Amino acid sequence: MKPFRLAIFASGSGSNAVAICKYFSTHAQIEVALILSNNEQAGVLQRAQELGIESITFSKKEFVEGGSVDALLQEKKITHLVLAGFLWLVPAFLIAHYPKKIINIHPALLPKFGGKGMYGARVHETVRNSGEVETGITIHLVNEHFDEGKALLQVRCPISPTDTVLDITAKVQVLEHQYYPKTIESWVLS
Ligand code: GRF
Repeated sequence: MKPFRLAIFASGSGSNAVAICKYFSTHAQIEVALILSNNEQAGVLQRAQELGIESITFSKKEFVEGGSVDALLQEKKITHLVLAGFLWLVPAFLIAHYPKKIINIHPALLPKFGGKGMYGARVHETVRNSGEVETGITIHLVNEHFDEGKALLQVRCPISPTDTVLDITAKVQVLEHQYYPKTIESWVLS
């Protein structure tokens, strides 16, 4: 067993989860030990299967009322939690069990365009409609509020007035896949 064991939480397609799993597949000290989702239909579950990584789904009750998710993380000796497109707020007791050991990526330059309900295409649509000339990613620690923990890294990219929401999504996704795995690595090893 490697000394650092990541659990990835994802609600959607899981392209970041895949990038992270691939990056750590041959790492000497860090491994992705578990993928968890609140959504039984999430594409990330199929991807976990293809990658040969154990995955589970859980209900809101199992997540917020203590108990089973937390117990599973302990049982699997998970050392760090990685949110990758995970839509639920992390409960305070889980943050207390993993102090400074939960990380998230947001597809915009926080503190702008963050908070409850700001996820997926909605973020890029809002950025576009606001006439911004740049967007990017923010990788940050997780606290009890959506998108408010300490920022570890921001990377920017330009957007032009002719960019569609899909264009912006694609630009941001390139940055996500390029920077999230290596930022996780330096955070875990710091
Ligand atoms: C990413 O844009 C990430 O920044 C945000 O949710 C999206 C997840 O995409 N938190 P994917 O499921 O990893 O493709």
